[in-house]
Amino acid sequence: MRFDIISCQPDLLESPFSHSILKRAQQKGLAEVHVHDLRKYAINKHGQIDDYAFGGGAGMVMMIEPIDKMITELQAERTYDAIIYMTPDGQTLNQQVVNKFSLLQNVIILCGHYKGVDERVRQHFVTHEISIGDYVLSGGELGAAVLADAIIRIIPGVLNDESSALTDSFQDGLLAPPVYTRPAEYKGMKVPDILMSGDAPKIEQWRFEQAVNRTKQRRPDLLED
Ligand code: ADE
Repeated sequence: MRFDIISCQPDLLESPFSHSILKRAQQKGLAEVHVHDLRKYAINKHGQIDDYAFGGGAGMVMMIEPIDKMITELQAERTYDAIIYMTPDGQTLNQQVVNKFSLLQNVIILCGHYKGVDERVRQHFVTHEISIGDYVLSGGELGAAVLADAIIRIIPGVLNDESSALTDSFQDGLLAPPVYTRPAEYKGMKVPDILMSGDAPKIEQWRFEQAVNRTKQRRPDLLED
């Protein structure tokens, strides 16, 4: 799967894709992440990509021209399945949305800044608008990194242990059950006996019950769905 991320602060996106699982996914050829500096298509030599809002009001608006040129450049090379705009007034990201995106081949992610992009960009270029939660970030870059991370980790072959993405919280509509590792007892704190029993079906049943209880306590809204 290929991600083309359009940003006016591309440096912000260097680190998230240079470590651990996301780095390995790219090395294995399972994901490609290309970050594009929107200032390449700035309207003047000062690197301008934004301007005052028509009608007045505080805050700058990202201009349509640089974004149009950048998207047009990318679309000349390949067809995109989605052009996603990161914005706090978009659809709130959840695992179901992530799962759907993970089936796509080529996506553009557009990072907003300031007061956002000229509305005509949203009307004529953007196919999906995504928020990572009900709070406002300084820009869409961290949201884009969150979205790409959540997608890339579930691409088949990215995680070494295939089953581990399937047992993530949210994948089956439940929060994940508690997990333990060695030592079996630490300063008097013991691991539940059932996990040491070697009885796989009973352990599976216990994990399911724990997942249901945890979901009931912490996120009862998930059970309503
Ligand atoms: N840009 C600013 N805030 C955001 C949010 N909550 N989600 C996605 N992009 C954003």
